[in-house]
Amino acid sequence: MSRIAYVNGQYLPHREAAVHFEDRGYQFADGVYEVFAVRGGRLVDHELHYDRLDYSLRELAIEAPVSRPVLLMIIEEVIRRNRVTEGIAYLQITRGVAPRDHGFPKTAVPPALIVSARNMQSKEALRRTGVAVICVPDLRWKRRDIKTISLLPNIMAKQMAVEAGAYEALQVDEDGTITEGTATNAWIVTDKGELVTRKTDRSILSGITRLTAITLARSAQLKLVERPFTVAEAKDACEAFLTSTTSDIMPIISIDGAEINGGKPGPITKRLGELYETHAVGA
Ligand code: PDD
Repeated sequence: MSRIAYVNGQYLPHREAAVHFEDRGYQFADGVYEVFAVRGGRLVDHELHYDRLDYSLRELAIEAPVSRPVLLMIIEEVIRRNRVTEGIAYLQITRGVAPRDHGFPKTAVPPALIVSARNMQSKEALRRTGVAVICVPDLRWKRRDIKTISLLPNIMAKQMAVEAGAYEALQVDEDGTITEGTATNAWIVTDKGELVTRKTDRSILSGITRLTAITLARSAQLKLVERPFTVAEAKDACEAFLTSTTSDIMPIISIDGAEINGGKPGPITKRLGELYETHAVGA
């Protein structure tokens, strides 16, 4: 079966699915993206993803190429054509194609839209064992709340994790607090049983999995605090975990080699993981 992507109005086999060399996404990373989880062939929390997409577009003054219902139709069609049951859908919107000039195009050009989807292997086994992470300096810009395709610092940090044999790199701000992973939000559980995750401002991306985890934690009467935490506090924490569309609730069992919870996923993390699984399957 040949894989199909949507590119600017057409559903095309991957080998033909190309964008123009002057697409501003290609030349300037002038665009935004979303990654949706697909479970049982259905999108998880798609309204929350659309809200964030609208926010990112607005902050960068990029026009939405199509309305929300049309976008949903396109994504669902790409999922259907690729027979995705358990995996992800990816969408990217850029400011469009124009002769290279840093300022916005002087005459209006249509924003460019691409959508792809693929099945992904379950990370269930990894979630049972938990993962190692490392800490790296956060080298990014000051608008991390925008889900831009400009991901170079994240990529360099993730590669450091890969080379260290770790699953993820936690990025650390100049004040010693952890901002977030390269493609995940970070959480700890304190000795008081409090779930702690950084509050959303311009220093991190407002993760959809993070939002859902907060809702689930509150409904399960778990204690929750949104505040920054340091690397030292994380290494000392009773439990730690990551949240993201592609990792769900992923237990952290070591940070820079320091074991968390004796190198095993902790009970509160597991409980939240179960709640999230139920939510994702039924969403
Ligand atoms: N990344 N922080 C960053 C920097 C991210 O890139 C992501 C998601 C998250 C978690 O957000 P969410 O829960 O909405 O997936 C936090 C996606 C999965 C990616 O780039 O592939």
